[in-house]
Amino acid sequence: MNYQNSLVVTLLIICVVPNRSVAESSVAQRGHPIKQESFGQTKDGKNVELYTITNSHGVEVRAINYGGIVVSLRMPDKNGKLDDVVLGFDKLDGYLDKSPYFGAIVGRYGNRIANGKFTLDGKEYSLAKNNGPNALHGGLKGFDKAIWAAEPFQNNQGKGVVFTYTSKDGEEGYPGNLKVKVTYTLTDKNELIFDYQATTDKATPVNLTEHSYFNLAGEGTGDVLKHELMLNADRFTPVDKTLIPTGELRAVKGTPFDFRTPIAVGARIDDNYEQLAFGGGYDHNFVINRKTGDLQLAARVYEPTSGRVMEVYTTEPGVQFYSGNFLDGTITGKQGHVYKRRYALCLETQHFPDSPNHPEFPSTILRPGQTLHSRTIYKFSAQK
Ligand code: GLA
Repeated sequence: MNYQNSLVVTLLIICVVPNRSVAESSVAQRGHPIKQESFGQTKDGKNVELYTITNSHGVEVRAINYGGIVVSLRMPDKNGKLDDVVLGFDKLDGYLDKSPYFGAIVGRYGNRIANGKFTLDGKEYSLAKNNGPNALHGGLKGFDKAIWAAEPFQNNQGKGVVFTYTSKDGEEGYPGNLKVKVTYTLTDKNELIFDYQATTDKATPVNLTEHSYFNLAGEGTGDVLKHELMLNADRFTPVDKTLIPTGELRAVKGTPFDFRTPIAVGARIDDNYEQLAFGGGYDHNFVINRKTGDLQLAARVYEPTSGRVMEVYTTEPGVQFYSGNFLDGTITGKQGHVYKRRYALCLETQHFPDSPNHPEFPSTILRPGQTLHSRTIYKFSAQK
């Protein structure tokens, strides 16, 4: 076929085939297609779809449109062996019944709001208290339990899925219809990128994060106490015993919270330090050192046996380092693996907890006419 003929055929295809098919076929043409299959049904009969995205190194991420959950993430170790580095379940039921936010997008407000109350523009709002006296992770049915619309795509950055969800005015007590779009991109540089976007028709607090539980030695293989962690933070936000920030920004220097040079997660986790007692280990927001709002390295994790490294870059001001303290062996996850205490760690990039009640913290209020943009990159590599 000569150039002109092929152009005519291409134009014909573009005109005749509906948009969705064009998108899918172009995704399929370039290397590995994004596979879409059923992952079961919710209790009220909604279909949940599983998307499998693979890059040129065989790295694979699988995500579902229930909660936008990353159900598996296969990354190479120092010898090129792929293992699944996130906790989760083989089947949808596990996520429906008892998941502590494994792999999910958390919202409308990730982390805690004190006493489930905040005042905005003179009006008080009440939220469900689903974590002791406080509201946690968007309420009883947060974004982690929503069915999202999903659209696979490929662009010059990589391949992925765009998840969208509209949270209704009043949902879980929050004001305003909030339109949320989270784009997951897997690149050939072994990066998993989350781009968040949101708009609202009434002022509302918004704090979106991703809640993957990482174990770089492979999910279910043991605890993360020997993972070496670097946190690019001179300060953290100490909490009361219900894990609500006191408002203080405390210097990490001289405390078990100093991760500015890499150190094993377990090196000081049981030290006699009140903040560790409150969290049962680490469950704290760190204030990321930054000069601008651009992407900044927030954390680096190295797992010595596999050699896997994960770097976290973000535009957010904070990162919650949670050392999996509430995992207690009551959850059996993928491949029959029992998830015990500290079998994973989370690095949830975010604004600070309880910001709506702390005017001195960076604001989480989104207003009509504004668009929230936020980006977090989890970048994987391995060293011998
Ligand atoms: C966050 C919280 C933890 C815990 C987990 C989910 O990391 O800070 O306290 O609630 O989510 O179990």
